[in-house]
Amino acid sequence: MVEKLLEVKNLYTHFFTEQGVIPSVNGVSFSVNKGEIVGIVGESGCGKSVTSLSILQLIDKPGKIVNGEVLFNGEDLIKLNEKQIKKIRGNRISMIFQEPLTSLNPVFTVGNQISEAIRIHQKVNKQQAKDKAIEMLRKVGIPNPEKQYYSFPHLLSGGMRQRVMIAMALSCNPELLIADEPTTALDVTIQAQILSLMKNLIEELQTSIIIITHDLGVVAEMVDRVVVMYGGEIVEQASVYDLFENPRHPYTQGLLKSTPKVHELEYELESIDGNVPSPDNMPTGCKFHPRCPFAMDKCKEEDPSLLSVGNDSAIKCWLYQDRKVVQV
Ligand SMILES: Nc1ncnc2c1ncn2[C@@H]1O[C@H](COP(=O)(O)OP(=O)(O)O)[C@@H](O)[C@H]1O
Ligand SMILES: [Mg+2]
Repeated sequence: MVEKLLEVKNLYTHFFTEQGVIPSVNGVSFSVNKGEIVGIVGESGCGKSVTSLSILQLIDKPGKIVNGEVLFNGEDLIKLNEKQIKKIRGNRISMIFQEPLTSLNPVFTVGNQISEAIRIHQKVNKQQAKDKAIEMLRKVGIPNPEKQYYSFPHLLSGGMRQRVMIAMALSCNPELLIADEPTTALDVTIQAQILSLMKNLIEELQTSIIIITHDLGVVAEMVDRVVVMYGGEIVEQASVYDLFENPRHPYTQGLLKSTPKVHELEYELESIDGNVPSPDNMPTGCKFHPRCPFAMDKCKEEDPSLLSVGNDSAIKCWLYQDRKVVQV
């Protein structure tokens, strides 16, 4: 039986700036099953990071979750106080970010930081935490981990730093790992190594994962199910197979066209015309209509709903509204 680990329901996160309200995330709902890898894709500025930060209550002022639920094993994380959510963060749910240098403290050795992370959440002594940290450094492929334990973050390469972050994130055996653009800052060869490392580790440790990326190549490589975001909303959800075989939303079709083919050495990157709209200046109707090659009059005026089209897929587009099954 499929067991739901995380259910994000109708999430709205807005930023209340002096210039006005910026509605970055608007009514986002998706779930992650136990053992599943879910990808969230979309161009920069679509609300992917704000969605993932909201899950762990990491939205700082002037941002605020204004509506929604984030059920983790049935418990609403949004209702937890700071002390309660801290017990979950880095322990049952971990996060890794694009730029590991901003998450690592420059004045402590990497080993020290991993051991501390372990000691915050687990009842172990210093030696046990150190042993576990070295074991994790070895698992993520850091050569000579007993020595590298004493390295300072800035002395490591970008790829090695991201390995350290993965070691830290997985050191407490989290049930869920949220990886926000984990390989974007790395060069292509290192990206591939890090992705295959993550894939092997999460299989071994049985961790569920949300991987956020603007790169559909990463999705093809890693994920089971895909959530496509545009303008702070979900516009399509499908299994990775369905999404690549039969992308339905014109935005998804555009994203796929602009993704380089994995095995072609030379490719032309075809990007989608136009830009991601800014959340403080959203178009009327369907937010994608100014860039959509299929836009009809209706699309300019009315916003379609996200409708289930069966087979665990959903789509938010007027081209599919008459085939509706149920509203999700
Ligand atoms: N601290 C902030 N203050 C104001 N607006 C923000 C803040 N953080 C994010 N936003 C806005 O929210 C939107 C979504 O951002 P984000 O989730 O970071 O996009 P993505 O991760 O998909 O690139 C962006 O338009 C961004 O300008
Ligand atoms: Mg982001």
